[in-house]
Amino acid sequence: MAAITNINDLKRQHKRRTPKMFYDYCESGSWTEQTFRENTTDFDQIRFKQRVAVDMQDRTTATKMIGQDVAMPVALAPVGLTGMQCADGEIKAAKAAEKFGVPFTLSTMSVCSIEDVAKHTTKPFWFQLYVMRDQAFLENIIQRAKDAKCSALVLTLDLQILGQRHKDLKNGLSVPLRPSAGNILDVATKWRWGIGMLRTQNKSFGNIVGHAKGVSDMGSLFTWTAEQFDLQLDWDKVAKIKKMWGGPLILKGIMEPEDARKAVEVGADAIVVSNHGGRQLDGALSSIKMLPAILDAVGNQIEVHIDSGIRSGQDALKAIALGAKGTYIGRAYIHGLGANGETGVTQALQIIHKEMDTTMALCGRRHIETMDKDNILVPRDFYGDWA
Ligand SMILES: Cc1cc2nc3c(=O)[nH]c(=O)nc-3n(C[C@H](O)[C@H](O)[C@H](O)COP(=O)(O)O)c2cc1C
Repeated sequence: MAAITNINDLKRQHKRRTPKMFYDYCESGSWTEQTFRENTTDFDQIRFKQRVAVDMQDRTTATKMIGQDVAMPVALAPVGLTGMQCADGEIKAAKAAEKFGVPFTLSTMSVCSIEDVAKHTTKPFWFQLYVMRDQAFLENIIQRAKDAKCSALVLTLDLQILGQRHKDLKNGLSVPLRPSAGNILDVATKWRWGIGMLRTQNKSFGNIVGHAKGVSDMGSLFTWTAEQFDLQLDWDKVAKIKKMWGGPLILKGIMEPEDARKAVEVGADAIVVSNHGGRQLDGALSSIKMLPAILDAVGNQIEVHIDSGIRSGQDALKAIALGAKGTYIGRAYIHGLGANGETGVTQALQIIHKEMDTTMALCGRRHIETMDKDNILVPRDFYGDWA
């Protein structure tokens, strides 16, 4: 087997080893996928400035995100159904993140539960919350995250209603689950994946089954989930959730300066400039294009993080040079997980770290916190001339 040298290599292996319906679930965006595509291609427009004859010994990518030490400013983003990419996927990704020294964010829609992940890790992880209409469930899941000693709540604001991904519907990955005959045959050919799945108990939405009233099996689960995303979520509810949680709060899905200002008003600790990896509002600008305007609006009042489209350490470094204090990867680590379980996530983190560290050195910087706009070239019309 050829050496794994970049995230694309992991992506190819992920595709080979994981059932098509779960690979497609990861590698797709909503509707035309314009935002999904531009999230990655827009990073290419930003370039680095090469510097020479600068001492590059003793470099470090270590810094802090919301006051917590990180080996590099790259967290693992919340990804639903991670435990379907690979058996016990959330536990494996959390362990890899813990060993590497970066935050792992567990999705509300995970396969392994908060308690499962806590049992298999020794350091606090972050928990991502989708606001559900079932108040008892909402209060209970926040309490469970507190009991598991989660060290930040990542509240996702851009999914009150689901963006449509054509591939999921065609594959039958929908509510209720109706896998096509082709997909059932395909699953049978992914033996490595199948053996893992036969060995684990974790096969449904672990945070929900047995915790939400009336949800005891997959059928009732899908019906419950489809009806539960809170269409009435507003800034008052965000403030209430902040109070219920009482710890560090990160608001995810901010794409406009006006919403970023509201996040500051509500007292959040950080925001994530994110369009959900192009899975929600197709036609939105890429996150990296929106980052400068949001930094201008609130960069000195709140920590600004970013995700969507990061596939390399160079991408992450460009965001840091623009002024972001942290980045998140979604698909980049899921490719590692689908390719090679915990080892694959570690490989993804190592690849990104090496790219980040080497680029930083060639830009003439030894400390990630000193990377700034002087290290990059951004096209004058990067944001675009919109009316
Ligand atoms: C397969 C998949 C599932 C996702 N599930 C969730 C989720 O449950 N909660 C959430 O807040 N974001 C979710 N996201 C969005 C990610 O947290 C993140 O915003 C996105 O993946 C970043 O883009 P990238 O994949 O290009 O790095 C999901 C993304 C993917 C690819």
